[in-house]
Amino acid sequence: MLNVPVFRLFIYSCCLVSYVALERDFNIPAIAKYFNTKGRYEEVNPYLREDIFAVNTSSVLSPSDQCEARYLTAIVRHGTRYPTTRDIQEMQKLYGIILHNATGEESWLQEIQTQWRMWYSEDMDGRLVQKGVDDLKHLAVRLSKTFPGLVSEEKLRGGFIEFITSSKHRCVNSTLAFKAGLTGLWGIKDMDFALEVNDSLMRFFAECPRLVQDVDKSPSAVQEVNKFKEGPEMRKVQQKIADRLGVSNNLITYNKAEAAFYFCAYEFAIKAVNSPWCQLFDEDDAKVMEYASDLREFWKRGHGHDINSKASCGLFQHVFSQLDQAAMTNRQADASTPLAATVQVGHADTLLPLLTLLGFFKDREPLTSANYAQHSRRSFRTSHMMPYAANLLFVLYDCGIGDPKLQLLLNEKPVTFPGLTQQRASMPRYQDVKDHYNSLLQDCDFTAECQLKAPTDA
Ligand SMILES: *[C@@H]1O[C@H](CO)[C@@H](O)[C@H](O)[C@H]1NC(C)=O
Ligand SMILES: *[C@@H]1O[C@H](CO)[C@@H](O)[C@H](O)[C@H]1NC(C)=O
Ligand SMILES: *[C@@H]1O[C@H](CO)[C@@H](O)[C@H](O)[C@H]1NC(C)=O
Ligand SMILES: *[C@@H]1O[C@H](CO)[C@@H](O)[C@H](O)[C@H]1NC(C)=O
Repeated sequence: MLNVPVFRLFIYSCCLVSYVALERDFNIPAIAKYFNTKGRYEEVNPYLREDIFAVNTSSVLSPSDQCEARYLTAIVRHGTRYPTTRDIQEMQKLYGIILHNATGEESWLQEIQTQWRMWYSEDMDGRLVQKGVDDLKHLAVRLSKTFPGLVSEEKLRGGFIEFITSSKHRCVNSTLAFKAGLTGLWGIKDMDFALEVNDSLMRFFAECPRLVQDVDKSPSAVQEVNKFKEGPEMRKVQQKIADRLGVSNNLITYNKAEAAFYFCAYEFAIKAVNSPWCQLFDEDDAKVMEYASDLREFWKRGHGHDINSKASCGLFQHVFSQLDQAAMTNRQADASTPLAATVQVGHADTLLPLLTLLGFFKDREPLTSANYAQHSRRSFRTSHMMPYAANLLFVLYDCGIGDPKLQLLLNEKPVTFPGLTQQRASMPRYQDVKDHYNSLLQDCDFTAECQLKAPTDA
């Protein structure tokens, strides 16, 4: 059963008092739904907290609807990982401040000072953790339950499931974990399955000179982010953290506030604990931290700059050329079984540009340093879109006579194509989707988009 309220009974034997807490698990930080790209997949699909293998097959078409899934492309983000070296360095500095300078007397603060141990080290640099291995194994098993005709033992053994990954270790290991989820499920020990490393597909953002020059290395591209970090909302958060710790304000810079947020997020994502670090934020503070991170993603990988999404043109073209091949194959006439599924593992930086190119999560107003309050109900919310193991599934169906249909699922939930709302947008004909994206399919060219522009007014 999905989405039923969770009843938990706490019995305090000492006083024979009991009470029921509704929808509140005290092992989960109250701010866990604001962790942006550092969030758990289970917070996006809470029914998985009860059963990690639960799937909602009523969200996809099946033979009982006269439809059969013909081909699946899954673009998947790697699983839960350690912080990067840069973030660990900042976390170490904050921990130092807490040990040496904090004068607060709250019990959670003393817990950090006396019981909690700093266990993050710089060599962990973004590596996949065990929870991240599990994220991908579990996803593989759920996809086999959701698409039994495509992600099946027969298709895997026959070589009809293809694996493509970014060269980053955490992605390669995530791909291996996905495969291990399937081979474990079917007890396959006698075969190994190849994976293809392809950075032009899965790490295009690092290979696009114009994106690197105009966005990644250009401070003006993220000026709204920097303004927000120095603005009144963020100053208030920093002040509250300094007050809670009992340190002078100037010790808690934006980077220190972010490090504190990371401590809470990583302790939860990696170890599933609601750590004392989480006491440094109330929900209002967490929303401000969440916005700062969303602002950054918006300007670096989202709708903020056109090149952010255009850099994903190669991946976009590849997805559609695979779908084209599957759509053209006449299964009755073709003796050789066509490809059943392509599993492509990459990064948040891979998925966000592609979602942006497809037109998703576009709010009426851009996200800026000045409209935090106005965007309290924004659609561009990485906490919802881009947890660890986030995935975008393109599913091509045969539905008897007529053209194939295309369904899109984000994190295993159906989404409607933006701009296709007039025509049963959740399950359009494949041809309608191609017509809708026609100009991108014709003109979007990675090499051309990513070329450095000569200075215009030199
Ligand atoms: C399952 O998916 C269907 C279709 O998307 C949706 O209407 C329904 O609410 C989902 N069921 C649960 C229990 O989440
Ligand atoms: C914080 O503590 C360190 C080590 O005791 C000390 O050197 C430093 O001056 C303190 N900083 C402030 C602002 O109190
Ligand atoms: C990938 O897995 C191998 C083998 O388990 C391990 O040695 C390595 O540290 C992992 N690398 C990353 C980046 O997670
Ligand atoms: C990556 O994939 C693209 C698109 O299929 C292909 O053209 C290219 O040759 C591949 N690169 C590598 C290194 O395999």
